[in-house]
Amino acid sequence: MSLKLIDIIAGARPNFMKIAPIISELEKEIKIGAPINYRLIHTGQHYDKKMSADFFNQLGIPLPHFNLDSGSGTQAEQTAKIMTRYEELINIKPSNLCLVVGDVTSTMACSIVAKKMNIKVAHVEAGIRSYDQSMPEEINRIVTDSISDFYFTTSKTANKNLIHSGVKKSQIFFVGNTMIDTLFAQRKNLIKPHFWDNESLSNSNYFVLTLHRPSNVDSEIQLSKILSEILKHTRDLKVIFPVHPRTSKFLGDTAARLSNLILTEPLSYLEFIFLVKNAKAVITDSGGISEETTVLNIPCLTLRNSTERPETCDIGTNELIGNDFNLLGNAISRVFEKTWKKARKPKYWDGKAAKRIVYYLLNDILIDNKIVK
Ligand code: UD1
Repeated sequence: MSLKLIDIIAGARPNFMKIAPIISELEKEIKIGAPINYRLIHTGQHYDKKMSADFFNQLGIPLPHFNLDSGSGTQAEQTAKIMTRYEELINIKPSNLCLVVGDVTSTMACSIVAKKMNIKVAHVEAGIRSYDQSMPEEINRIVTDSISDFYFTTSKTANKNLIHSGVKKSQIFFVGNTMIDTLFAQRKNLIKPHFWDNESLSNSNYFVLTLHRPSNVDSEIQLSKILSEILKHTRDLKVIFPVHPRTSKFLGDTAARLSNLILTEPLSYLEFIFLVKNAKAVITDSGGISEETTVLNIPCLTLRNSTERPETCDIGTNELIGNDFNLLGNAISRVFEKTWKKARKPKYWDGKAAKRIVYYLLNDILIDNKIVK
């Protein structure tokens, strides 16, 4: 096999946990002479130190070869900047494969550019669907999956969704969850958050809260209502709320009114997982966090009506609460009564997903001249 070049695309915080183990496995293969090389391309979608550089440092991800500096902007502005700049890069030197992860703006933007320039696209975490097209992520998933050539999946449901949409079985590689690879790899390195002692936190005496979905946070009134409702039910325990930059713009003075709500800056990966692992429960509108709580067996209350990760509800610790505040009160009571369901681990969420991905890249996808020329 001649030397093959892979572009690895990462742009937003949840991407970094997904690429770290893939890069680490690729590096191992390169060291022992595999005819493969990669360019790490950071789109710059997330650019604050706490949303990006801290993750690179803690997860041992090498510095990106290129940064597209797409920065802030509307969805269209970000998409346009990423597409134009990635196209320039490919024009200078094309790669053999573009590997995208997850469902963020960067995932969709780069997959379109690569595909139009006749570069094959591999999508990690392919096939998951919330069936809620009001979420930008769902559109990113649908677009990316409609043009990808190779699909690395995390669940049987994802495999079924892809088959139903016309993808051939031979294009699907059921490998597991690279975010969970990172969780396993880092669990011995977790760090107590700097406020742990000052806030008198100890095992199971606090909740963790994260919110960043436009439907929950892009209005001061809605956000304030959600926060007040949560604090009504958490019985004087502290609620630790690492605030996403998008959310901070709409916080107003709500936090000052709620004495047990502790706001922090976005936390580094190792601090955040430490906090989750020791929490009484997590309340969130994130999809990725419901995977982590499932593996850590921590109750997860999701403030959304749908999930693209049904296994976290079916066999994990996740429950969909939507914005039904009666359901929220009832769910938090069950957390206090310790009657929350226990999780089983989904298939292949075993810390070896990235190993499988790199195996398929080397032994199937990149080696076959019929597939990648
Ligand atoms: C993005 C992803 C979402 C993911 C989330 C995790 C999309 C469509 N959404 O949403 O799937 O769960 O990241 O964090 O890609 N901002 C900063 N500093 C930063 C990054 C963003 O101030 O480092 C600001 C931006 O300027 C913008 C807002 O936060 O005003 C939203 O950022 P954006 O990247 O558009 O989407 P997220 O809401 O972070």
